[in-house]
Amino acid sequence: MKFFVDTADVAEIADLAATGLLDGVTTNPSLIAKSGRNFLEVVKEICGIVEGPVSAEVVAMDVDGMLREADIVRKLAPNVCVKLPLTLDGLKACRKLTSEGTQVNVTLCFSANQALLAAKAGATFISPFVGRHDDVGFDGMDLIEDIRLIYDNYDFATQILVASVRHPIHILQAAKIGADVVTAPPAVLKNLAKHPLTDRGLEQFAADWAKTGQVIA
Ligand code: E4P
Repeated sequence: MKFFVDTADVAEIADLAATGLLDGVTTNPSLIAKSGRNFLEVVKEICGIVEGPVSAEVVAMDVDGMLREADIVRKLAPNVCVKLPLTLDGLKACRKLTSEGTQVNVTLCFSANQALLAAKAGATFISPFVGRHDDVGFDGMDLIEDIRLIYDNYDFATQILVASVRHPIHILQAAKIGADVVTAPPAVLKNLAKHPLTDRGLEQFAADWAKTGQVIA
């Protein structure tokens, strides 16, 4: 399973990239606003930190506007992945861009039928939002299971990118279902390494080692 980080905070991205566990980055207009940075500048900088896909979202609502913005964004770096909304215009733009060899992440997916359309439009990634789905009383992971089943039924190459991840259980469930990618906030990714018994064991080992008076040298 690939791990993407969902942020436009360059320091956080560099910190996670240094672990060697980071496969890509996703951003959205809200995360760009939170960063306080210029959109094109920050995307270009992120693309220099990670080798994998960096999703950068267009904001136009019509196909011509999306393609115009996508053309600017994809020229920033070879690992830019253009993020488009799951609308009919977004799907039209998706088909055009992927046929030209540009990676596309179709975002704001909330149903398996929408995911089916994105795959037919040749999307590189489909982003179902599990946390926002949970927020309104549906089980976001049911959606991931349905999409996995449908994509496997037809051998679609589109990768399932589980988005709107809120906690480590979302990542565990996504991995069990066989999702291709998760994107999560930096804190959630870092929490995957934590366990209270690991901390307790380390304290015990350190205390016992101190009693030996030895150093490893
Ligand atoms: C995905 O690409 C989105 O940027 C993100 O996962 C949305 O998450 P949120 O629902 O926490 O805003």
